[in-house]
Amino acid sequence: MSAQKLSRRDFLKLSGLTLGATAVACSGLGYAATRTPRLATPELTFRKDDSMNQHILITYATRAGSTAEIAVAIGETLAGRGFGVDVKPVKANPALDGYDAVILGSAVRMGNWLPEMVDFVKRNQIALGQLPVALFTVHMLNLGADETSHAARLAYLNSVRPLLKPVDEAFFAGKIDLETLSFVDRLIVKMVGAAQKNSSLGDLRNWSEIQAWSSVVF
Ligand SMILES: Cc1cc2nc3c(=O)[nH]c(=O)nc-3n(C[C@H](O)[C@H](O)[C@H](O)COP(=O)(O)O)c2cc1C
Repeated sequence: MSAQKLSRRDFLKLSGLTLGATAVACSGLGYAATRTPRLATPELTFRKDDSMNQHILITYATRAGSTAEIAVAIGETLAGRGFGVDVKPVKANPALDGYDAVILGSAVRMGNWLPEMVDFVKRNQIALGQLPVALFTVHMLNLGADETSHAARLAYLNSVRPLLKPVDEAFFAGKIDLETLSFVDRLIVKMVGAAQKNSSLGDLRNWSEIQAWSSVVF
């Protein structure tokens, strides 16, 4: 099975592993098994003292940090374009008041945006409906240009797309560094790797592509 074709279902099948994980979690080892080492969730402001600037919130959901780094890179480019930008983890539950536009970015796990971002969208659906909203998704599978890959990555947004009218959607290749994953996540990644020849590990982020999108969004 190729990396491109590994679907959400495959991931879910492999996550039969989560049964094992649950067993571990129920034991005294649970905390250590699910803890993500050294996760940085930056909260940054790029803002000139100019109330005439338009202000953009970039909020992100991450498990291992690569989506946070992409959010910061997008913020830097937007700030360079003259926007006032706040970059915040969605777990900080940022307020939407005072922003002219919002970017929501999430890592994909098991074929979906992370649940805290889906919850944020649900809680803020009305306010988000009154603002231009752009989305970015960070993932490692279904990166190809073929129809099957394209359809599979579009499906990562199935839980939020019906709730939003995004002005733009970007899909960025992410990063898997086993060192930054919890024990259970490493296990899942290794199982996926064993199930396919071309499993993607490493840092596949394409910073030029990320900058190019940030240069034109909004
Ligand atoms: C346990 C686990 C499950 C994943 N599930 C998927 C998936 O279903 N589809 C996909 O394209 N990528 C999947 N990925 C890859 C992540 O989306 C990718 O590593 C991303 O860069 C992680 O972002 P983060 O570092 O911000 O958490 C998975 C990674 C892990 C560790």
